[in-house]
Amino acid sequence: MKKDPFELARSLCSKARRVCALTGAGISAESGLATFRDAGGLWEGHRVEDVATPEAFRRDPRLVWQFYNARRKAGAEARPNPAHLALAKLEERAQVSVLTQNVDGLHGKAGSTRVVELHGSLWRVRCTGECPPLAHAEPLELAWPTQCKRCGELLRPDIVWFGEALDPKVLEESARAMLESEVFLVIGTSALVQPAASIAFEAVRRGIPVVEVNRERTPLSKLASATLLGKAGELLPKLLKA
Ligand code: APR
Repeated sequence: MKKDPFELARSLCSKARRVCALTGAGISAESGLATFRDAGGLWEGHRVEDVATPEAFRRDPRLVWQFYNARRKAGAEARPNPAHLALAKLEERAQVSVLTQNVDGLHGKAGSTRVVELHGSLWRVRCTGECPPLAHAEPLELAWPTQCKRCGELLRPDIVWFGEALDPKVLEESARAMLESEVFLVIGTSALVQPAASIAFEAVRRGIPVVEVNRERTPLSKLASATLLGKAGELLPKLLKA
């Protein structure tokens, strides 16, 4: 008889000593942060092309800056939900790497210690000039225009915008964590945005058991060892309970 997907997933997760999780906007939905697709493809009422592309920043940097100030405000008010907390707690009995497409920092707030932020972070800015990347301390609301203290060029959010490449070091680190894992969790992501989604498909190709948690089926579902349909905040605490 075929094993119930939840029981199969639970047994895979309880045995694994090295776990890797790819997360997307769906894991933060229950923290009150709308997913891009749930918001009808709009963020804070803006079309993606107007606020989250390099062209948008060249055309109207002030609008992009205001948009990210609004996202920072929403992000600062958001609290980790039981799904983030369950992943953090799993570190008590397994090595857990979290590869997240989210820029909200909620995995870190929940206490996860090995977090790879594939698409950057709301809580960092970087210089648009030649300065080495990263780490200007980040107040909640940045005044416009904010310039680099070293070279005077404009600062921009340290976010990977649509049409931009991911940092190859970040991708290497993600691939390493995926390859080392005994079970690969895919939580709250539409598995449509590349190259992040390809890490999950590569795990399948390598024969690593993949457990998907999503409110609905995705292109990964038919390949996963188990797909659990429902809310991440309800399913993950049960799935990862010791
Ligand atoms: N529990 C589990 N899954 C959920 C929940 C929930 N409570 N709420 C929504 N979901 C699922 C949806 O069914 C959908 O499959 O989360 C997924 C959200 O999909 P997207 O909005 O496409 O988010 P994501 O996959 O993270 O997108 C990747 O695209 O929006 C850009 O750059 C942004 O990093 C993001 C990237």
